Amino acid sequence: MRIFQMTGLSGAGKTTIASNVKSILIEKGYAVEVLDGDVFRRNLCPDLGFSKQDRNENIRRMGFVANLLAQNNIIVLISAINPYESVRQELVERYQAKTVFVNCEIQTLLKRDTKGLYARAFLPKNHIDKINNLTGVNDTYEVPIHPDLTIHTHQESIEASVQRILKFIIDSVEK
Ligand code: ADX
Repeated sequence: MRIFQMTGLSGAGKTTIASNVKSILIEKGYAVEVLDGDVFRRNLCPDLGFSKQDRNENIRRMGFVANLLAQNNIIVLISAINPYESVRQELVERYQAKTVFVNCEIQTLLKRDTKGLYARAFLPKNHIDKINNLTGVNDTYEVPIHPDLTIHTHQESIEASVQRILKFIIDSVEK
């Protein structure tokens, strides 16, 4: 079991944490890959948008690639919003993926807004730059029902989150 699906809202810290965890695991001698939602969408999934169906298809493709890598003893961190419980469960059942909920309260995300997406979601209705389906604001995020690990990035530092995920991953793969 080597697939870890990190799920959470945009800006919660998934990519930063995944990249830090990857570096440390590599230093420790593990083979690791991060599958990032933004990167996947640019390369393998440019045909997909943000409907429920497309988001789930995005995650299924990530799961498929993750499984190919995991079969070759590579630890895979899937870093995507991954907002729907049903497709997360698909990855759990098909590939024994573990679910890591990267939780961050919306007030903190609005303050950070590194990509400017939240500001755009709050624009008036007919504004040309308005985003009408931003996860957590005007589109669904289903909170994971039984995550294997939850981290709270509005409460703990990135370093602390990284250490907790690191321990969880090493414990899981060394079982
Ligand atoms: S997922 O829902 O299909 O899992 P994914 O993680 O691949 O999403 O992509 C999310 C990224 O797409 C965000 O980090 C953001 O940069 C960008 N994005 C653009 N529009 C949206 C939107 N409406 N909702 C969420 N993310 C969006």
